[in-house]
Amino acid sequence: MLSRHRLSALLAVCAAFLMMVSIAPSTAAGDPGRNNFRFGRMFPELDSLVLDDEVLFLIGSPSDDNLNPAYMEDSQFRGTDNNAEQEVGYTYLGQILTHDISLDLDSKLGESNDPTTIRNRATPWLDLDTIYEHDGNAAPRDPDDRAKLLLGNHVGNERDFARTEEGRALIADRRNDENNNVAQLSAMLMAFHNRMVDDLRAEGSPGGDERLFQKARALTVQHWQSAVLNQFLPEFIDQALLDDTIANGPQYYSMSDANKGMIPVEFSVAAFRFGHSNARGRYTLNENFDRVRMFPLSESELGRNLLGNQIIPPERQIEWERFFDFNSFQGDLDDDVDQFAGLQVGRKVDRFLARPMLRLPIGGPGLPDFILDTENTVAGLPVVSLANISLFRSKAMGLPSGQDVAARMGFDPIPNEAFGLCDPGDPCAFGDLPLPVDIDEAPLLLYLLEEARLQQEGEQLGQVGSRIMADVVIGLLLADPDSILRKPFVSPVTGDDVVFMEDMLLHLGWAELPPEE
Ligand code: HEM
Repeated sequence: MLSRHRLSALLAVCAAFLMMVSIAPSTAAGDPGRNNFRFGRMFPELDSLVLDDEVLFLIGSPSDDNLNPAYMEDSQFRGTDNNAEQEVGYTYLGQILTHDISLDLDSKLGESNDPTTIRNRATPWLDLDTIYEHDGNAAPRDPDDRAKLLLGNHVGNERDFARTEEGRALIADRRNDENNNVAQLSAMLMAFHNRMVDDLRAEGSPGGDERLFQKARALTVQHWQSAVLNQFLPEFIDQALLDDTIANGPQYYSMSDANKGMIPVEFSVAAFRFGHSNARGRYTLNENFDRVRMFPLSESELGRNLLGNQIIPPERQIEWERFFDFNSFQGDLDDDVDQFAGLQVGRKVDRFLARPMLRLPIGGPGLPDFILDTENTVAGLPVVSLANISLFRSKAMGLPSGQDVAARMGFDPIPNEAFGLCDPGDPCAFGDLPLPVDIDEAPLLLYLLEEARLQQEGEQLGQVGSRIMADVVIGLLLADPDSILRKPFVSPVTGDDVVFMEDMLLHLGWAELPPEE
């Protein structure tokens, strides 16, 4: 039986998750100025795909043993799923970008929701509200220097958030503490803000603490936008498509006044969730904290995992040369052994998710029965598959099928057979999913993941996924009069308008370049 101590530890680490599955009420008071952003539809003219709950559950469920991989689950039998193009840092850059522009706390699983009535609790702009003030909750300032953000925990890790004794992070958006990796990268952005304050002071920038705070914030946001534009997007989307969208505007995403800042559910519930496939099951943070599972898969892993909402001691700090490319890695990026010794890459974008992603330890009370897997438990609690959550969220939001969206964009839709969905009576290959009923069309999320696998070998997004991502992210930058696509930006760190996360880490002294040969 689970001891009381262990249960409370588990419940604590689950808290951040519970926020994310929209079953917890918002704790922050609404910010009246920012209350007006809503979700919406990119293709309101398309019918919703309605699939039985039983089918959706089958598609997204984890396996109930280690031998037979489930349909959306990675397994040792499928061989490596490494994405040799992308270092693992990109996954968490992507997760922070998600938190920056989209938060649905109000749609209900198992019900039919009208996205246009659902509030987006984040501002849709790439303004790092997720770091600075979120849903009415401001990040605490350093009491000794009000121009700076409060950083550093009470066990001596200056690179962790400030935390309560129980480990709760004192930050604006608690989703940034959902796992260790996103927490450490978010803390890096906060440290960058503080470094900008120091730099501004050193160059004699006038103004009191508040003015310095605002200037440092503007600089941090510009650096962030540049990294999203120049580093993150081109890793997953063809550069020519990005350039075309910047030059000619989005093709399917309208930013009319009525739609200003609208986040389409085709993006937030499907396309941008490609990151759930990109996340690895284990990460090495440093030599002594290596191959650690993202989320515990057994009671024995409760003390050694990368769940968020826990104090990060100095010995669990990420060595950033293992997460981003500083030209110091000599090994083979596609090789698992090399990887855990050096620079790690994310997983391919395909329907195969890392095992912990199909076993989120949030199976406590409050979740609708149809997404709980009572056969699978961690420390006595049923787990929840993130694939199932997203598939049921797609149904709740009335998303169209992948094939309908592809046809609407003028592409040849990929048939379901190519995805290993196996109708009754059809011969099924190993790993295919035998279905209890015929289905002709696939949920958009599944379609986009499989499109990436079939068209780009999982290294990038496919045609439809790329277009949705480019339209929305570039569309948001173009619509924001303060963004770096609308106002000139020269980074004091790089001397031009191009910034990578590596530049920010080097500027902070949190990473080093290899010695010159
Ligand atoms: C690595 C660990 C991650 C975990 C455990 C995780 C977990 C979750 C959970 C539980 C939700 C709420 C789902 C729902 O209720 O419908 C969610 C939402 C979402 N996630 Fe992730 N996620 C991770 C990484 C990422 C990454 C890397 C990306 C993108 C690159 C991403 C994109 C999204 C998006 C777009 C949403 C919807 C946000 C909203 O509108 O509320 N996630 N995630």
